[in-house]
Amino acid sequence: MSSIKTLGQFIIEKQADFPYAKGELSRLLRDIGIAAKIVHREVNKAGLVDILGDHGNQNVFGESQKKLDVYADEQFISALKSGGECCFVASEEHEEGVVLVDEGISKNAKYIVCIDPLDGSSNIEVNVSVGTIFSIYRRKSEVGHKVTEEDFLQRGVEQVAAGYIIYGSSTMLVYTTGKGVNGFTLDPSIGEFCLSHPNMKIPSSGKIYSINEGNYVKFPQGIKQFIKYCQEEDKATNRPYTSRYIGSMVADIHRNLLLGGVFIYPQTSAQPNGKLRLMYECNPIAFIVEQAGGKATTGTERILDIKPKELHQRVPAIIGSTEMVDKVLEFLK
Ligand code: AHG
Ligand code: MN
Ligand code: MN
Repeated sequence: MSSIKTLGQFIIEKQADFPYAKGELSRLLRDIGIAAKIVHREVNKAGLVDILGDHGNQNVFGESQKKLDVYADEQFISALKSGGECCFVASEEHEEGVVLVDEGISKNAKYIVCIDPLDGSSNIEVNVSVGTIFSIYRRKSEVGHKVTEEDFLQRGVEQVAAGYIIYGSSTMLVYTTGKGVNGFTLDPSIGEFCLSHPNMKIPSSGKIYSINEGNYVKFPQGIKQFIKYCQEEDKATNRPYTSRYIGSMVADIHRNLLLGGVFIYPQTSAQPNGKLRLMYECNPIAFIVEQAGGKATTGTERILDIKPKELHQRVPAIIGSTEMVDKVLEFLK
């Protein structure tokens, strides 16, 4: 008889992997899992209740904010606050980070969380998959002191954990603590994330390329050449490849992680640093994809090596199956 392993059980089992851990990271991951279930419930009701449409505010980038962005942001921050393990949250929805240390039980908190509470939010109103992306660091400053830039502007290589939740045809939570990647599917009947995808590995190559081709004329020459390469016929390399682009990074990455492929959001003549954010989109996804055996680069450097300058920094991203990322880099040379 096969037995179910829940996220909670799995996290406790893996706690022994961390020599310095006293259960705080486990509790932090558990808190994120709880908020994810609440957001899942709300995302699933999006077509039914009066939660669609603009919230009337704009986020820090002047983009109009949907109600669910705000809702998801509130849920994750509130779970992190009451969990007491996180001292600072950098969220897409807040220009400045949110300091939690002064708030009662969080004063001994050792962790920093960077989060995109709702990724792909424009897809909500058309019933297409959205997600949450998060990244966890240990603070550098001493507990009880002020949180400084040194705490929240750490390189991606310093992440202690990262993950995403995809609210898709089923809801899944995928995470890594630097020892491989594991995926859990939410069983709504028991309200638990259950281990469904142990030790996920991205194929070294694939047939899928994911890029917003509408921006073609604004792409660097090398990216244009790569797209043409994907479209050419060649039996030996199984081309032409297949173009798949959802417009929710989480969903595009999740599919490519399972099937093999490359996801590209390059710099364009209009957006010289690309669109995606380093701290809560590219770094966590890069950590997961590398841990699954893939590769993540800006085109000139490994994403995880970038020394961040600001919370909402944007970087170009080429992420996915190693051989396909290497092919893009060849064209960019
Ligand atoms: P968000 O909803 O958090 O702002 O993120 C949207 C991002 C990302 O999920 C997606 O890959 C990308 O924007 C799509 O951008 P384009 O519409 O420019 O292709
Ligand atoms: Mn996003
Ligand atoms: Mn978002």
